Amino acid sequence: MTEFNRKTRYRKTMKFNLLTLFPEFFPGPLSCGLMGKAIARGLVEYSLVNPRDFAPDRHRSVDDRPFGGGPGMVMSLDPLLRALASLDHPGRILVLSPDGRVFDQTLALEFAQESDLTLVCGRYEGIDARFQEFVSCEAVSMGNYVLNGGESGALCLMEAVSRLQPSFMGSEDSAQDESFSSGLLEYPHYTRPAEYEGARVPEVLLSGNHQEIAAWRKEQALRKTLLQRPDLLEESCIAPDDLLFLRQLSRFKPGKNLYLGLVHFPVLNKKNEITAVSLTNFDIHDIARVCCSYGLGGFFVITPLEDQQELARSLIRYWKKGQGGRNNPDRVQALDCVDVVADLEEAVQAIRKNCGVLPRQIASSAKTRGRTSYQEVRHALQDEAVLLLLGTGHGLADQILDGADGLLPPLRAMSSYNHLSVRTAAAVIVDRIIGESS
Ligand SMILES: C[S@@+](CC[C@H](N)C(=O)[O-])C[C@H]1O[C@@H](n2cnc3c(N)ncnc32)[C@H](O)[C@@H]1O
Repeated sequence: MTEFNRKTRYRKTMKFNLLTLFPEFFPGPLSCGLMGKAIARGLVEYSLVNPRDFAPDRHRSVDDRPFGGGPGMVMSLDPLLRALASLDHPGRILVLSPDGRVFDQTLALEFAQESDLTLVCGRYEGIDARFQEFVSCEAVSMGNYVLNGGESGALCLMEAVSRLQPSFMGSEDSAQDESFSSGLLEYPHYTRPAEYEGARVPEVLLSGNHQEIAAWRKEQALRKTLLQRPDLLEESCIAPDDLLFLRQLSRFKPGKNLYLGLVHFPVLNKKNEITAVSLTNFDIHDIARVCCSYGLGGFFVITPLEDQQELARSLIRYWKKGQGGRNNPDRVQALDCVDVVADLEEAVQAIRKNCGVLPRQIASSAKTRGRTSYQEVRHALQDEAVLLLLGTGHGLADQILDGADGLLPPLRAMSSYNHLSVRTAAAVIVDRIIGESS
């Protein structure tokens, strides 16, 4: 029996208590489709409790002005606490609130284990914060946006939790197969006609070969999750075969369009003057290893100083062809992606030769606040080459920053100390752009 079945099999009735100032919000949506049927069959029950019915004054007030001033009204404690006390079996008490734990399938599965859930719907500016001192409850958010009230969120939560009850959908398999239940997004569905204005259904689905169909669906689910929600893959347990399949997909090679340029001139010194900085052995090794681990297109060491160029080349030679490489073969592979060039233009032209297009130049800085997001760079990599510029010394000179097509925000900008070594910054930035959780 799967974990999913074991956890949800024996439940009979799921009861929701809805504390709301707008009880009229619920009966319509809850009477539709499978939810309506589940309620008619007694699989799901709900009760509506209006705090207004428990308001002590003759105006039946449920809100008041906020202490400290400011706009809007705040839901008062007393009617809410009385409304809650009227419930025989409140069960687990959830307060819909933007500051709560974000609701997802894992949370839905967790709530589906309960027999009673009470959903407290806020309105106005929210609920008097002392509510949580009187009631053992958990805040649940429906996402990073603000709704007028908790009611629509409560409906979503009820639906996601109810459909995990055995027999809600007729076939338990349907819920198991769905997005998130297995840690993956679901494969795509198609129905008749098999061809619509030239758009054909994938042939395998018409083959009648169930084994092949299952394999195709699994691949599609993996592919879609990798492309659209790589963060889910980090959390799910991927079978070794599936991991092999994922490794072959191009999402694992988005780095092929990303190049790194380690600029030694023009950069700033301590006094903010333009200078040229000497090479650092560690930078070359560590950035080359980042480059190799993330499958990047290449790494340019940029310095106009001929002695420094020669130093870099002899270092690379030693590790690729000399004793260094013989002792440490995987360093050969890493240093293979390094090129030494005299200036930025040479790096740009080398990329152009390699990919046929001029790269978009994206600069980085520990000080100047850039507006180019990591996500924007990730998107650009789908069909463009990007040269990410990293400065040695005290950072890239203004002429490089001004000439770039974009500037990333500084790492740890809120911290009072953000002096990372350039090789550390390179690793963090690359991971933010194309790492699995990016
Ligand atoms: C207008 S909102 C209050 C927003 C609040 N002043 C704030 O800025 O966080 C009123 C009520 O809607 C519900 N609500 C709004 N957005 C929500 C979200 N993303 N998740 C869950 N509940 C939400 C909460 O119950 C909240 O108390």
